[in-house]
Amino acid sequence: MLAANWSTRLYYSSILLLSLLLSSCRPAQPDASQSEKAWWKEVVVYQIYPRSFKDSDGDGVGDLKGIISKLDYIKSLGVDVVWLNPIYSSPNDDNGYDVSDYRNIMKDFGTMADFDALLKGMHERHIKLVMDLVVNHSSDEHKWFQESRSSRQSPYRNYYHWWDAERGKPAYRYSLFDINHDAWKWDSVSNAYYLHYFSRKQPDLNWENPRLRQEVYDIMKFWAGKGIDGFRLDAFQFAAKDTSFPPFPQGYEKNFIEYYAMGPHLHDYLREMNQEVFSKYPVMSVAEGAGKSFKDAHELVDADRHELNMAYAFEGVDIAKPEGYTLAHFKEVFSRWDSAFAQKGWLSIFLANHDQARMVSRFGNDSSAFRDLSSKMLSTFIMTMRGTPYYYNGDELGMTNARFGQIEDYRDVSALNEYQHQKNTGGDLQKFIQRLRFESRDNGRTPFQWDSTAQAGFTTGKPWIGVNPNYTWLNAAAQEGDPNSCLNYFRKLTKLRKENGILVYGKYTLLDKDNPSVYAYTREMEGKKWLIALNFSAHTAEAQVGLNTTNARLMLSNYTAASGPARKASALTLRPYEAVVFQLP
Ligand code: GLC
Repeated sequence: MLAANWSTRLYYSSILLLSLLLSSCRPAQPDASQSEKAWWKEVVVYQIYPRSFKDSDGDGVGDLKGIISKLDYIKSLGVDVVWLNPIYSSPNDDNGYDVSDYRNIMKDFGTMADFDALLKGMHERHIKLVMDLVVNHSSDEHKWFQESRSSRQSPYRNYYHWWDAERGKPAYRYSLFDINHDAWKWDSVSNAYYLHYFSRKQPDLNWENPRLRQEVYDIMKFWAGKGIDGFRLDAFQFAAKDTSFPPFPQGYEKNFIEYYAMGPHLHDYLREMNQEVFSKYPVMSVAEGAGKSFKDAHELVDADRHELNMAYAFEGVDIAKPEGYTLAHFKEVFSRWDSAFAQKGWLSIFLANHDQARMVSRFGNDSSAFRDLSSKMLSTFIMTMRGTPYYYNGDELGMTNARFGQIEDYRDVSALNEYQHQKNTGGDLQKFIQRLRFESRDNGRTPFQWDSTAQAGFTTGKPWIGVNPNYTWLNAAAQEGDPNSCLNYFRKLTKLRKENGILVYGKYTLLDKDNPSVYAYTREMEGKKWLIALNFSAHTAEAQVGLNTTNARLMLSNYTAASGPARKASALTLRPYEAVVFQLP
């Protein structure tokens, strides 16, 4: 099967050679992304964290019936695709990212009948569903692992990575979630170590084993056969490993992606997966992580490689630090990624997800004066850039970090285990809590704020994680009736993007590059040009856009006065956090 790919690659290399020869006789190539249209480039993806979205039965945990009850709300946002975090059976060490049965629904979330009803309800509303596929690791409570650990002779032994203890301790591997940061856990049953890049309850699967790979493809076919519309491949860049486990240089964990991402045969596995699954069903595919270079990212997503449709890179979300960030850095990163994919390949655009704190608290300004404006400004950025927008639930309301002040309020395995690590190693616990208040994933996981009733209308019971106290005034019900709310602004944005392909495919050009406060850029397609200007600061700022906007049509503004910013021949004066979208004449 993998050999067949060589002939396919040969075929594509000859096409490439031919087109290179032809292109030397042609005028400059148009922006390639404009010609290669695809449905998954044109959609807006809305990410739902099921545990925190809506609880239907009062147990304090969001569930599938809860999502079903909100389908009309989701539809009203104007989004096309829902990405659901894992909903499979799981002991919930890492909120569903530790799967114990890939073909069943987590008890907290409901039943397979609920799932079928959810999918039907989405499809009736022309909303597609993307499922999270967590196959770098499983739960240690999965029957594969139970079998695998039972003896060295188990037929499932090679589903995971084992190192027999008489060989001594294997070379150090850093674990992201382990209390001791140690990814090797000794298991007494067979006197051997198993590998877990994440928590001890998330043993890494062995992708070198063709039987394991086939099991995964069968699972994917099971869900694709049910009619789902895509897969998000969780942590998949780590799936392939050098299983001789050579030592890595000391301190490598500070830059572990360099050593963990894109291991041997990863592309073979993806091509095999493509052949087995993606090529046979009308599904989209997106990888979490884009490797360590543009080359890696291209090799994941370039269409002629027949691997994945897109990936999401972390460099953009990693910019925000507790001490702040500079707009110059932000522009530089997003512009660099755009230019690397201007001709070929496709990426996603996002500023938040379930692994990040809230967008407005990290990248905007969540003070009472500017929360609303800065949140709308950031949404404008996501919805006017090239790439498929992935928009995290609650950001359409401008939800903010809960900033819990004590460890007892946190639920995330990574926060709790790192706290323990700090404690064991004499770390500064107060400083650590300060860090969590800014960057803990739990900030993005507090219950969705539906209304001002108890527990924000999320549950009638006790929520699994505290509700942000600002729900009394910051909630969907309050924003529904306000035409100028974040919520209604987001609806305008999705409509604008859907109706104007220029925002999807148009060429991106950065303007006024060194402006420390304003991010301005144009999108161009088929002779049309749009200008987007975003003030990332809390003061009035002028942008030298070098374009005459006096007769430009204001398509959208996050300020209520219809006039938009003051315009001079080639400059705009933007109010604090002002965001404007112009169509140029
Ligand atoms: C991914 C998920 C994250 C999870 C981890 C381990 O990064 O997005 O939530 O904890 O993988 O599965």
